[in-house]
Amino acid sequence: MTVTIHDLAQWRARGQKFAMVTAYDALSARIVDDAGIPLILVGDSVSNVLLGYATTVQVTMDEMLHHARAVARGSRDALLVGDLPFGSYQTSVEDAIRNASEFLRVGMHCVKLEGGGQPSIDVVRALVDRGIPVMGHLGLTPQSVNALGGYKVQGRGDAGEQLLADAHGLAEAGAFSMVLECVPAELGRRVTDEVGVPTNGIGAGPHTDGQVLVLHDLLGLTPGPSPRFVKRYADLASKMSDALQLFAKEVAEGAYPTDAQSYR
Ligand code: KIV
Repeated sequence: MTVTIHDLAQWRARGQKFAMVTAYDALSARIVDDAGIPLILVGDSVSNVLLGYATTVQVTMDEMLHHARAVARGSRDALLVGDLPFGSYQTSVEDAIRNASEFLRVGMHCVKLEGGGQPSIDVVRALVDRGIPVMGHLGLTPQSVNALGGYKVQGRGDAGEQLLADAHGLAEAGAFSMVLECVPAELGRRVTDEVGVPTNGIGAGPHTDGQVLVLHDLLGLTPGPSPRFVKRYADLASKMSDALQLFAKEVAEGAYPTDAQSYR
């Protein structure tokens, strides 16, 4: 049965933790959904993880829609979250409504947007008033990497109080859930305990209601060192490399194909 935004509130009420994972294509979405992951995020991380851009700032709304369509085709039960990319909701409330509507039109069930403060609150309220469920995203908000001066832990010291106030603001504007990225575990606990909507942590400690990771990070496909919060549950990059090298070797040696892979 398709997961809805109301399930998250019920899971939180009974202390049932939940996972969210990114997917950018139909095949991955099918694997993630079949594995029983209840939330799939078509994240703007597709920009740097898959498309080769330097940051998430580069990916466009059209590119996001292309990936969202594929994920919608490949998934069955999961709640699908479309990540509004940089520039698709900061320009005006009207742009936010139009772009969020496009996500719903291609099969997303809700949208996610980054940031707190009055401009975000105005956008969240406008979307929610029009029947578009919104997931917030506070802490390290990668679309603001140029303003933040890099990918650093957020919400330390006094900044934690501001983040808590932003979380209250998003919840009051109607956000049904929020991602907390790269904040101290104690702040993750406070937001989760005090704000009242389901939280989804990524580098926010063990007390949030759910946890989210980028699929390619948890499968060990992303090259280079990972952020501290990533746990690699597999090492698929080296498995893929082994398989590819073996294929090339067998072709070079004439060991592939054999009769078993040939037609009579
Ligand atoms: O785009 C993304 O993958 C995200 C997660 C890191 C939460 O926003």
